[in-house]
Amino acid sequence: MAAATRRAIRVITLGNVEIQSNVPAPRSRPDYVIAEAKAWALNPTDIGHIDNLGGPGTIIGCDWSGVVTAVGENVTRFKPGDAVSGVCHGGNTVEPEDGAFTNIVISKELATLHKPDSLSFTEAASLGVGMATIGQAFYWVMKLRLPSLTISTEPSAGPALFVYGGSSATGSLAIQAAKQSGYKVYTACSPDNFDLVKSRGAEAWFDYNLPTCADDILATVTAASSSIGYILDCIGNESSARLCAAILSPSGGHYHSIKPPVPAVFKTLRPEDTAIATTALGYAMSGESFELPPGNVHPADPQQGEFAKEWAVLSEALIAAGKIKPHPVDVREGGLEGVLDAIADFRGNAPRGVKVVVAE
Ligand SMILES: NC(=O)c1ccc[n+]([C@@H]2O[C@H](COP(=O)([O-])OP(=O)(O)OC[C@H]3O[C@@H](n4cnc5c(N)ncnc54)[C@H](OP(=O)(O)O)[C@@H]3O)[C@@H](O)[C@H]2O)c1
Repeated sequence: MAAATRRAIRVITLGNVEIQSNVPAPRSRPDYVIAEAKAWALNPTDIGHIDNLGGPGTIIGCDWSGVVTAVGENVTRFKPGDAVSGVCHGGNTVEPEDGAFTNIVISKELATLHKPDSLSFTEAASLGVGMATIGQAFYWVMKLRLPSLTISTEPSAGPALFVYGGSSATGSLAIQAAKQSGYKVYTACSPDNFDLVKSRGAEAWFDYNLPTCADDILATVTAASSSIGYILDCIGNESSARLCAAILSPSGGHYHSIKPPVPAVFKTLRPEDTAIATTALGYAMSGESFELPPGNVHPADPQQGEFAKEWAVLSEALIAAGKIKPHPVDVREGGLEGVLDAIADFRGNAPRGVKVVVAE
């Protein structure tokens, strides 16, 4: 018989979370799976929702992996016993039961992926937010060519793609997806992470701490008779936007910052209509309405939800085939208590080049 209650990390007051027992088990919803959690991963947005964006009573956490225990009536891709990973809307003031940091998770089918045997539960837990974010950015907003399982060596002709922050959890997945889409991928990060971005398939890598970085990128790209037509900015601050504005092709292109809002300096430097600048919130991939911050309603986007279904299936195939490898993981122990410790650690010591994951 299904448990009536569960343990969960909930916001008490903004800035404060605690583990609560006797939290009601999630209700069955037609498009959702219910799963027993095996691991959880941390994201910068978890801290944002604890401090500002969530509300009292909401369960925090987005990334998780586990084993399906029940499925809603519309679910077709999963059955009880399946090993999976997923992404939840943690701190969701519209559906407070939705967060991932609980022993019994509820996750929308379109945001859930089968875990291949080749990955551990801790590796799989690192994938959800990153895969949803690049799916939305590259293929829903920027309308890039979808990645293929067969493209592997020779990038197509045409403008190249640049990832600012290729060593971030989102950036390392983005490099691989863009490569599978046939783009030549350039990136920038700190030298400590050059080996990581090289291993994920970047064509060339640059140190964004150097004042010559933009010139260095332009020299390399020009020498390859190419130009930068697409940019994914995984940092989204003033200095990243300045560099991206400097390297985007003079004939224009598409700059997307995964950190909203688009830094104003980008359009100051590249005001022309051919230099497109966008951002988006990954939560919209659910296709459902949400509030962020509380009170600011984002209407449901069912078409984006339909795209997310396609993207989930393609994501699973790319991961199972080893075409997209997880970001390196820093695995901690300790279940939900370990998640609380990791949250405290994350505040003072944000990870670089790794995703923090906590095992059950
Ligand atoms: N729109 C959305 O739905 C969405 C989804 C996911 C993430 N995000 C946002 O995107 C950002 C990245 O998230 P993530 O989880 O992918 O990142 P992450 O893994 O936490 O990124 C860590 C890396 O970012 C680099 N970095 C940190 N601070 C930097 C700075 N000031 N300037 C340049 N590089 C810096 C470091 O690279 P080096 O060590 O190589 O310097 C570090 O290794 C966060 O702000 C997050 O909230 C938004």
